[in-house]
Amino acid sequence: MKRFYLKTMGCQMNDHDSEVITGILLSLGYQRTEAVEDADLILYNTCCVRENPERKVYGHISAFRRLKEENPELIIGICGCMPQQKEERQQILKKLPHVDLVFGTHNIHRLPELLDRAASGERVVEVWDEAQYEEGEDFRDSLPVQRSDGLKAFVNIIYGCTNFCTYCIVPYTRGKEHSRTPEKIKEEVLGLAAEGYKEVTLLGQNVNAYGKDLRESASFSSLLADLNGIDGLARIRFTTSHPRDMGLDLIEALASLDKVCEHLHLPVQSGSTRLLKRMNRGYTREYYLDLVEKVRKAVPGISITTDLIVGFPGETEEDFQDTLDLVREVGFDSAFTFIYSPREGTPAARWPEQIPEEIKKERIYQLIELQNSISDAQMRRLVGTRQELLVEGRSKDGLVGRTRTNRQVHFAGPAALYGSLVTVEITEASTWSLQGRII
Ligand code: SAH
Ligand code: SF4
Ligand code: F3S
Repeated sequence: MKRFYLKTMGCQMNDHDSEVITGILLSLGYQRTEAVEDADLILYNTCCVRENPERKVYGHISAFRRLKEENPELIIGICGCMPQQKEERQQILKKLPHVDLVFGTHNIHRLPELLDRAASGERVVEVWDEAQYEEGEDFRDSLPVQRSDGLKAFVNIIYGCTNFCTYCIVPYTRGKEHSRTPEKIKEEVLGLAAEGYKEVTLLGQNVNAYGKDLRESASFSSLLADLNGIDGLARIRFTTSHPRDMGLDLIEALASLDKVCEHLHLPVQSGSTRLLKRMNRGYTREYYLDLVEKVRKAVPGISITTDLIVGFPGETEEDFQDTLDLVREVGFDSAFTFIYSPREGTPAARWPEQIPEEIKKERIYQLIELQNSISDAQMRRLVGTRQELLVEGRSKDGLVGRTRTNRQVHFAGPAALYGSLVTVEITEASTWSLQGRII
């Protein structure tokens, strides 16, 4: 029995790709292990959206050299977004001579053959720049998937990204936008509901661009309406939405479809129109604020979360103050905050107005402090409210569930409630967690 160790970095696209990779490896007779020392195959599914995780990959894989010396049969592989960049791929091959297998985000279905070749001693490198389709057939539809959870499932609806925000590497690693057909998606979700899944999260770098590339017209809101009719399914989530592509039909769908949860992840990136333009985001500060107002009016109590970047090339103190100001004005429920990280091959990395590291750090601390105080206030506001929870697991002293607005709540109750919907009253709140009581 061969064992594999799989490490996943990055976003939910990678999480889901790893579920497919796991499915393939299990079908080949491999067993999963959480201990690298026991593995016959070590595979890193990588992310390159920022520099830090990349450095980690070099660190970790270098340390596996010893394992390889002890066990020459061991196969060490790197896949995911890092190898999609040509320069990075060459660096990997040069700096990590004990890596045997490198493949890209469009080559996952080729894993069985690539593994075979690696096992026979070849150093295998296969990275395609774009997915290859035959007559509308998508190889990804027929791959085995081993989902990491029996209640909640990720479902890809659109691959790739063609937005080319000037800081972002994703369009270079994931290829052009490509929507799956509504029929394929529905078939998958029906199957999941039949297996007992209660929640699906529809995935894409830009989910609300869904359908624009399809020959027969399909929109994201009509897809949601369609999925909302599936029996057995309790909740539908989706991520990530681009502010520019938020049509009124999608707001209407959020407001009217009972299974579509009241949470919108709507990355704003910056509060300065000048910077938004340089980022190629396609909207202004005013547009974003207006959009948030419309969404809140249509869907009272909705949770709105975001992504923010500080230290983008040319960011002045005034631009940064605009961001702080927008964050205060919107009152996000939570935010992922990032220090701008230059990515080779993207336009912004070449611009001369790079911001010094100390200023970036100073700004991110200020931003995090502000957002934490807002998140804290948002959480405390929930005390005394009633919330529907999907019971997802157990904790030290009871059960853990998630609200429709995507917040975790700890509460006491019998283990038999796992997988069901319960209503609780929120009794206590802190910045990061909520306590509740079943009613
Ligand atoms: N498709 C999603 C986000 C994908 S990447 C969207 O457009 O919203 C997730 C987040 O990483 C981005 O929203 C952005 O905030 C951040 N990010 C992307 N490139 C970055 C870079 N070069 N430096 C710092 N943060 C970055
Ligand atoms: Fe990157 Fe922009 Fe595409 Fe999001 S929309 S993945 S930030 S290029
Ligand atoms: Fe990272 Fe690739 Fe996702 S670069 S954020 S894993 S699409």
